[in-house]
Amino acid sequence: MYAHITGWGMAVPSRVLTNHDLAQMVETDNEWIVSRTGIQERHIANPEQTSASLAIEAALKALEVANLKPVDVDLIIVSTSTPEHVFPATACLVQDRLGAARAGAFDLSAACSGFIYALDIATQAIRTESVKNALVIGTETLSRFVDWEDRTTCILFGDGAGAFVLQAGEEPGGLISSVMRSDGSGGNLLILPAGGSHLPASPETVREGLHYIQMHGREVFRFATRVMAQATEEAVKKAHLSLEDISLIIPHQANQRIIETAARKLNFPMERVMVNVDRYGNTSTASIPIATCEAIQSGRLQAGDKTVFVGFGAGLTWGAAVVIWSGPFPVRRRVRPTRYRLLARLRSILLRLVRRIEGIIWGNG
Ligand code: COA
Repeated sequence: MYAHITGWGMAVPSRVLTNHDLAQMVETDNEWIVSRTGIQERHIANPEQTSASLAIEAALKALEVANLKPVDVDLIIVSTSTPEHVFPATACLVQDRLGAARAGAFDLSAACSGFIYALDIATQAIRTESVKNALVIGTETLSRFVDWEDRTTCILFGDGAGAFVLQAGEEPGGLISSVMRSDGSGGNLLILPAGGSHLPASPETVREGLHYIQMHGREVFRFATRVMAQATEEAVKKAHLSLEDISLIIPHQANQRIIETAARKLNFPMERVMVNVDRYGNTSTASIPIATCEAIQSGRLQAGDKTVFVGFGAGLTWGAAVVIWSGPFPVRRRVRPTRYRLLARLRSILLRLVRRIEGIIWGNG
């Protein structure tokens, strides 16, 4: 049994915070932020938006693409570092508000690597036939945990969510290999110190700003560039493939320079690396599914393509996964997958042709 990715969706708040806006808030400027990170703007949640509400928005879109109803879902995994509460799990709020009455639900905490971890766990649940349909969601409202007076961190992060639907299918596809790693000795490099059982919230912790993200940027940078290439190579090897077989790498979107350094180490062309950190900043665990949605939208990821997801983050954690992209199951399940893949490719060629013709018409008009 395989776990095909048959639905996807993303949600970002409409409010955009540009580097120029940030320059009004802290001592920074657009040139510094762009040259060090590649980030130009990020989306920030409105007061009524939360990690759960963004997750639900993304999940509903993913279910629609997969042509499933919430009651068809057996398992919901919400990966997040910014849950609604310490408990209950944000996944349970999502389950309830979706009306996914038959689903088990839990949160997964592996920071920016969390979506890859969640994808792996949901895949194993499907492959062992424990569940048939799973929702994997990455969601963050990091803006609630950022010290907006700390220029070394507040420029980096953004809010958003992305969701995948995974469905059981007998033809090979979906996640075919993965690597999950951690090194807890680096836990203090990226941490939210207070609010847990180790240091419960108190007037002192609030006064000292210990409920905000703290980071040692340079060390995290060094760690990230070291592990991204390693994990990618390992996952590709585990899938018995080579990098030439990979049509697109979709990395965690933390920093343009980190992504470029990793691509250089892999000797992999940047044209085949998905980057959208410029418009969203670092949305932590949501960044890979958001980038995937945009890769599909722009025709860079199509049925049958082999792609690598690779990420790193607090913990320290990191990981990579090789995925054969599927697309929604055909409504008539009897259509053979090879035929379906051909049809999907034909459909996307036609769509691109229509877009090009539209472009010519609008361009001339
Ligand atoms: N605007 C202007 N100057 C800034 C600044 C800002 N927003 N933030 C820091 N600086 C200053 C520093 O104060 C320092 O000044 P000094 O030399 O006078 O002390 C100088 O710029 C260099 O700081 P440094 O921290 O060494 O910069 P850097 O080149 O390492 O870039 C990061 C900082 C955060 C962009 C970079 O380290 C990074 O991207 N790290 C990885 C972070 C990450 O991805 N975290 C998430 C992981 S999931």
